[in-house]
Amino acid sequence: MLQDTHGRRFHYLRLSITDVCNFRCNYCLPDGYQCDSDRDFLSLSEIKTIARTFSSLGTSKIRLTGGEPSLRKDLPQIIEACARTDGIDKVVITTNGYRFPDVIDDWHQAGIAGINVSIDSLDANVFNSITGADKLKAILAGVDKAAAMGIPVKINSVLMKGVNESSLQQFLNWLQDTPVTLRFIELMETGLSHQFFKQHHIAGEPIKQRLLQQGWTRIVRGKSAGPAQEFHHPDYAGKIGLIMPYSKDFCDSCNRLRISATGKLHLCLFAEQGLSLREEIANGDELALRHKISELLTTKDISHWLHEGKTGATKHLAMLGG
Ligand code: GTP
Ligand code: 5AD
Ligand code: SF4
Repeated sequence: MLQDTHGRRFHYLRLSITDVCNFRCNYCLPDGYQCDSDRDFLSLSEIKTIARTFSSLGTSKIRLTGGEPSLRKDLPQIIEACARTDGIDKVVITTNGYRFPDVIDDWHQAGIAGINVSIDSLDANVFNSITGADKLKAILAGVDKAAAMGIPVKINSVLMKGVNESSLQQFLNWLQDTPVTLRFIELMETGLSHQFFKQHHIAGEPIKQRLLQQGWTRIVRGKSAGPAQEFHHPDYAGKIGLIMPYSKDFCDSCNRLRISATGKLHLCLFAEQGLSLREEIANGDELALRHKISELLTTKDISHWLHEGKTGATKHLAMLGG
């Protein structure tokens, strides 16, 4: 099992398969920013090498991310290849849901075990103004379909001052009858979002206090559950998660490593520019890859230090799948 020098264990790989996105979420990709779609993204065969290597190092869960992963035509084959890798128990995906609900059957057949989808507002106008995409209705139909098929669904929502903060109550009403986990994510400052961050960041702690006052209770999660805090309420079908990267202890429960769409290892979302593994991946040299990953992991920092004012090198989260 991969373990760092701070005692944290890493059984979870976030694998980006493209950094191209067809949405323009205003907190992620500012207007006019061009994704570089000509890049040499990891091939299916390289992805198989990565899955096998990480599995042999104790990884049991792979999350496919982007950009928007469903922009890759071979996504069902990628899901299937990862799911069929010995030792990988769970293949999940983070998507903007733009091809919902049509693709869910294919993903299910390929072996997807969970879907995280971004919905920043349940008001179609607000949703459109944030994402630049008129897709809320289809995405909600996809969420219902996936949930009805028994696929666990988590919704990601970045709450922002002056943009969608008033959506909170609408989300809570929706959760009364909708069996999904809705996670509120604190807006993170990236290289392209200094100004936006200053204007719109909302801390998660007051939201947590409000939920506790309204009868939500914290769910005790296993040690390897990752940094989100989760809450449930007896009158609600859905659950709530809070992802608060600016809280001091956020990184204590870090359980994930990241590979970018061009084969770089990122020890943290905010730590560095990425450490290239592409040569070993392209050569299919799993032994050399194992050594390199284990050695690089010894340099993982204890925290991202965002709570102390540091901003990472990451330009925008589409680069790395968040
Ligand atoms: P599961 O725990 O597998 O459900 O997923 P997740 O919450 O790790 O995945 P998802 O892709 O849905 O990410 C939700 C949000 O959490 C995104 O905004 C990510 O950028 C953020 N996030 C996930 N992991 C980390 C992390 O290690 N550090 C920071 N700062 N943010 C993270
Ligand atoms: N801050 C917080 N969350 C972000 N995401 C993208 N950019 C940011 C940011 N600057 C989220 C998206 C998506 C997830 C993968 O990352 O909402 O749900
Ligand atoms: Fe695309 Fe996701 Fe970034 Fe939105 S948050 S622009 S859907 S990568």
